[in-house]
Amino acid sequence: MTRVRSIVRGVGSYLPQNVVTNAELAKTVDTSDEWIQQRVGIKERHIAAEGEFTSDLAVAAAKAALDNAGLTPEDIDLIIVATTTPDYTFPAAATLVQMKLGMHHGFAFDIQAVCSGFVYAVTTADSYIKNGLAKRALVIGAETFTRLLDWTDRTTCVLFGDGAGAMILERAELAEGEPERGIIASALRSDGHHWDKLYVDGGPSSTGTAGHVHMQGPEVFRHAVGKITDVVYATLEQSGHTVADLDWFVPHQANKRIIDGAGAKLGLPPEKVVTTVDIHANTSAASVPLALSVAVADGRIKAGDLVMLEAMGGGFTWGASLIRW
Ligand code: ACO
Repeated sequence: MTRVRSIVRGVGSYLPQNVVTNAELAKTVDTSDEWIQQRVGIKERHIAAEGEFTSDLAVAAAKAALDNAGLTPEDIDLIIVATTTPDYTFPAAATLVQMKLGMHHGFAFDIQAVCSGFVYAVTTADSYIKNGLAKRALVIGAETFTRLLDWTDRTTCVLFGDGAGAMILERAELAEGEPERGIIASALRSDGHHWDKLYVDGGPSSTGTAGHVHMQGPEVFRHAVGKITDVVYATLEQSGHTVADLDWFVPHQANKRIIDGAGAKLGLPPEKVVTTVDIHANTSAASVPLALSVAVADGRIKAGDLVMLEAMGGGFTWGASLIRW
């Protein structure tokens, strides 16, 4: 019996040119490099230029992933963009990416699960591939998240950055006895009762404005480690693997203390945890594919490695995906 799997063909990323360090931020915000590094482990973030939109970041990451895979837009039949910051309320950023890649074929849509968006999008693409609706999916996490920030609110504005990461998933049929490859197991969760612990106070149906981020930081922190580890264990259980089998843990990059807490609770050696929050800050749906791209480019993640992705964000939403690279 053959098994249909979604295998990873390539990854890529894009970061806006403008890098803002904590020290630079402290010139206009009542904060310090020491406070930010100690509380969340962030040193700097990239901020998109005026006129640079989420779909632009997404296209740059998509082109890098296509190059990495040795593919062209012709080869793609599904585009999913995970984003909280689309260029327009509609159409979906994914259709703008499709246009900017010169495609008239296939189908494209956005997923909104805030920081968990990329894990949701990977899992959705996997389902479309497995049920035969798509052969090759371009899955992108892209955000101009800093556009949702109130720069006078020091409790939130120091935490976030802009960027995009992309992954190409391809349908493969594994023959009888052939070792597992691609996406092995995933778990997705949400609980909307927590909506006001992390939310944006605007939207087309409420205020008609984009709004600004509000966060009950200590409450988010209190929920994060438990929810992350639960969903990682659920994913491992489905697959018959254990934490000890993991080669790499690629968590959502919100906060070094949350990442360290989750790693410690899982019993993972710190050297197996990919951390880029120091140089990217929290880029919401872009954070996992940005971290993945760094670890693939520097040679840490290689073919055959067992990689666990996880994320948690507004909603709350959370999820994990286990991939044999
Ligand atoms: N610079 C300097 N001081 C600050 C800043 C800042 N940027 N922000 C807050 N403070 C001050 C507060 O005003 C407060 O001062 P006070 O004691 O004089 O009143 C003090 O620091 C402590 O404030 P708390 O909010 O209690 O700080 P806490 O230790 O809880 O840390 C933090 C806040 C870092 C946000 C923490 O709650 C946290 O990590 N939460 C998780 C949130 C997170 O990572 N969110 C990302 C999005 S969610 C996701 O992606 C999973």
